[in-house]
Amino acid sequence: MLAGPRDRRAGAGAEHLTHARILTHIGTRRIALASSERGLRIDPDLPPASAALRLAGFDVDTPRWDDDGVDWTAYALVVVRSCWDYTWRLEEFLAWATSVPRLRNDVRVLRWNTDKVYLRDVERAGLPVVATVWNPTRAEDLPAAGEWVVKPSISAGSRDTARWADPADALAHAAQLMATGRTAMVQPYLVSVDAEGETAMLYIGGRFSHAVRKAPLLARGEGVRHDRDSRGDLSPADPTTAQRTLADAVFQAIGSFVPGAAPPLYARIDLVHDDDGRPVLLELELTEPSLFLPQAPEAVASFVRAVEAALPR
Ligand SMILES: Nc1ncnc2c1ncn2[C@@H]1O[C@H](COP(=O)(O)OP(=O)(O)O)[C@@H](O)[C@H]1O
Ligand SMILES: [Mg+2]
Repeated sequence: MLAGPRDRRAGAGAEHLTHARILTHIGTRRIALASSERGLRIDPDLPPASAALRLAGFDVDTPRWDDDGVDWTAYALVVVRSCWDYTWRLEEFLAWATSVPRLRNDVRVLRWNTDKVYLRDVERAGLPVVATVWNPTRAEDLPAAGEWVVKPSISAGSRDTARWADPADALAHAAQLMATGRTAMVQPYLVSVDAEGETAMLYIGGRFSHAVRKAPLLARGEGVRHDRDSRGDLSPADPTTAQRTLADAVFQAIGSFVPGAAPPLYARIDLVHDDDGRPVLLELELTEPSLFLPQAPEAVASFVRAVEAALPR
């Protein structure tokens, strides 16, 4: 029997092991898909991903990232999946990620990607992103729009995000975020989202895999959203050439944003259309994106191949 992930002894003194002993210490087919309390309850990708990896001969665990009893050194690879509570525990999460020896995505990618200020790098690279004003304090600072979206730069699942028609409400929401030490982002509410939602472009193992349409999430007059388990309607999408061209360009640029990092095992590139009908980047999700595997069952095989390819040789 291999030592279980909760066997603390398995990891004791791992830093002193020689390379050869490390290779025998880790199970070469032991994989962890790192989740969270909430992820374990509701992540729809975990069951198909685990089942497919097991069929491919992997020994798969789905531990919570914050479980102190897990020996992370015992895994050939730890894949960050549904660590959906990281946004309010970012330092703790990044410290954990730094401590895990074989992690995807690469901890350098996670450090860069867990704060949406990365959108500035993407914009500087000449790629179109949703127009964003950071930490506005006056009505003149707001982007020209009929409605605004206000969100914290460290967030996921629309947490603390809202759509406002009154500039005073948008500024008050931004002020509230800044008062708690957060970076406030204000964007025009892109009206195309009401009609067509957003298009999530999934890349697995370095290749485009599939696209999914996500229905709009922010209702007019709803106020600030807090964490909810609802994820909105999802349906398979057929991206346009323009969407594919932009998503490919964003994906190709990741290496220049995080030099030296291992190539991402997975990436989700969320696109919306601006008022001129051009695709623009809403979010580049390299940390714990839903991969929408139930919407694209064939993508599970790509995920297994990507895990195989990321194993240490
Ligand atoms: N500028 C925008 N225009 C229209 N809808 C937006 C805009 N920004 C965010 N949204 C809506 O809010 C949701 C959450 O925002 P997003 O930027 O994707 O952050 P996260 O998913 O990390 O919480 C999006 O899925 C989209 O429905
Ligand atoms: Mg999003």
